[in-house]
Amino acid sequence: HEADAYRTDLMTITRFVLNEQSKYPESRGDFTILLSHIVLGCKFVCTAVNKAGLAKLIGLAGETNVQGEEQKKLDVLSNEVFVKALVSSGRTCILVSEEDEEATFVERSKRGRYCVVFDPLDGSSNIDCGVSIGTIFGIYMVKDDHEPTLDDVLQPGKHMLAAGYCMYGSSCTLVLSTGEGVNGFTLDPSLGEFILTHPDIKIPKKGKIYSVNEGNAKNWDAPTAKYVEKCKFPKDGSSPKSLRYIGSMVADVHRTLLYGGIFLYPADKKSPNGKLRVLYEVFPMSFLMEQAGGQAFTGKQRALDLIPEKIHERSPIFLGSYDDVEEIKELYAAEV
Ligand code: AHG
Ligand code: MN
Ligand code: MN
Ligand code: MN
Repeated sequence: HEADAYRTDLMTITRFVLNEQSKYPESRGDFTILLSHIVLGCKFVCTAVNKAGLAKLIGLAGETNVQGEEQKKLDVLSNEVFVKALVSSGRTCILVSEEDEEATFVERSKRGRYCVVFDPLDGSSNIDCGVSIGTIFGIYMVKDDHEPTLDDVLQPGKHMLAAGYCMYGSSCTLVLSTGEGVNGFTLDPSLGEFILTHPDIKIPKKGKIYSVNEGNAKNWDAPTAKYVEKCKFPKDGSSPKSLRYIGSMVADVHRTLLYGGIFLYPADKKSPNGKLRVLYEVFPMSFLMEQAGGQAFTGKQRALDLIPEKIHERSPIFLGSYDDVEEIKELYAAEV
């Protein structure tokens, strides 16, 4: 009836985080201010992505990044927007982006205590064909008040204070954890606000979907090959799993989080460390999975225990429903 049309207790992402942070008496709102600048970047990228085709924003920028990938115009644009928004927040001191070879050390006058690692546009190969893409971010606190160094961002994922992603798809959905569970917010374009739509997301303990690029099967190691074989030809008479692979990590992870299942980007003979980058793809998604009751494994260890040595370091990753990841952990353990 009428009242529903105009709900008055709008739980925006800013209000939600303020509520959460109010539990910490010492918090001075710095994190909320930082988050509001990340949200601003996501809103900008959302509008740019939605009119990419019209605004001639598709196609290549004519540059290649440190990953050796041809940068898309939206890669470069999104990166610039996030770097400027984060620096102007006055709450950051080091930024690591997939699109910048070196870390950005914020000038002293604008320096804060947070280090942000981010993938400004994930799934770039899908931009021109209109498939969902996203932004991924993780937030560390500097280790101490000394002059910031790379050591402040080369921390294990378990030291992250927060992590999240924004998916630019049929709707613009921001999924966030500050270490107390996972919550999803959907952009209401008429308000320009992210409204809480998925409170307290928990991933199903076991799923019926596996998500991997089967095109790399020739180069997989034995445990991965055995696990995928089990998904397709289960020995215990259960029905085979479905394969869903979008090729944008954000979209594949979002589906896994909501529906359950397992997402794999394994090592292979060509790339022994897999393809996904530890700081701004593996860690944030692993953080979210653990917070939602799932788990994340590198083939050797718990993903969040990994200590990166380089800011663009890669790692194999198996993440998703607790029981599904447990199965592949057993296969790797048997291999040792
Ligand atoms: P990015 O577009 O930020 O470089 O990331 C692309 C990643 C990730 O989104 C996805 O899971 C993976 O690349 C897909 O890789 P393949 O095409 O090798 O399967
Ligand atoms: Mn890329
Ligand atoms: Mn990416
Ligand atoms: Mn990217």
